[in-house]
Amino acid sequence: MPSHLEFQFHDLHPDTENLRGDVLSGLAQPRKALAPKYFYDARGSELFEAICGLPEYYPTRTELAMMQASAGDMARLLGPNGLLIEYGAGSGRKTRVLIEAMAPAAYVAIDISRTALRQCAGELAAAYPAVRVAAVCADYSRPMQLPTIEGLAERRHVIYFPGSTIGNFTRAEALVFLRYAREIAGRGGAMLVGVDLKKDPARLHAAYNDAQGITAAFNLNLLTRINRELDGNFDVNAFEHHAFYDINEGRIEMHLRSLRDQQASVAGQAFHFTAGETIHTENSCKYSVAEFQQLARQAGFAAEHCWTDAEQLFSVHFLSIAA
Ligand code: AVI
Repeated sequence: MPSHLEFQFHDLHPDTENLRGDVLSGLAQPRKALAPKYFYDARGSELFEAICGLPEYYPTRTELAMMQASAGDMARLLGPNGLLIEYGAGSGRKTRVLIEAMAPAAYVAIDISRTALRQCAGELAAAYPAVRVAAVCADYSRPMQLPTIEGLAERRHVIYFPGSTIGNFTRAEALVFLRYAREIAGRGGAMLVGVDLKKDPARLHAAYNDAQGITAAFNLNLLTRINRELDGNFDVNAFEHHAFYDINEGRIEMHLRSLRDQQASVAGQAFHFTAGETIHTENSCKYSVAEFQQLARQAGFAAEHCWTDAEQLFSVHFLSIAA
């Protein structure tokens, strides 16, 4: 059996994050907003890992259990010897479960973060020497072209997008994103995507308002990051975490709420906050199975199969594209 301990690295030089420009324009809007991608500095990534293990945060363990229970069935639908393309640098356990069940010819991770990508690809190349591993540094939320991976163009392209990260796009953005993904998978291709389900609002509320305050710390860390990286002077104690389920929009919204009238400066610019005013920091959209399938069909996929757990908390969709 051939061994590929090394991995190919393709750098498509995505626009690097423009923290300064995005923060200044986000805070200048009448309804202040910051992009959730900025949560993930080193501390933010650590806090997110901690969120995934919280008793109230059901998605991570539910999806992992679903993968463990159904990876064999998923692999049969996805087919052997394919080209498995993961959106996100997934050295995670779910990815390993899928790789072991599917035995793809090759695995390609696509992520905007070079560091996370190198680490993930290195670990997977070492763990699965029979699988050819490649890493592509790119922004998968924008149109992109997959670099040619020798000898694999004809293999079925299967995109894996776990974690309900698709929920952090608005519904309109998710449709655009799915259309790009469909182009990448191409004719005869497929996609396996993890999507958090609509459920009792109290359960959702608890998942984003955990008793230990880890989600609050994750949200507030954004202000600490701005203070450190953009010479900001936010009084972090003068803001609070505010997360709620908007039943009409079908989404959790996270905000940072000002506890008093105050002013903060960022990179030399002053911003005023009235008491109770918020900065919108994240959407986390929740779907019914039928609603997500409809979105997938609108993007040109056939919604072929969907797995859910016994409590109907989470869904994993198998989508295919006609040959
Ligand atoms: C990464 N993403 C799917 C998480 C979510 O649930 O929307 C981010 C998160 N925000 C607060 N808790 C977790």
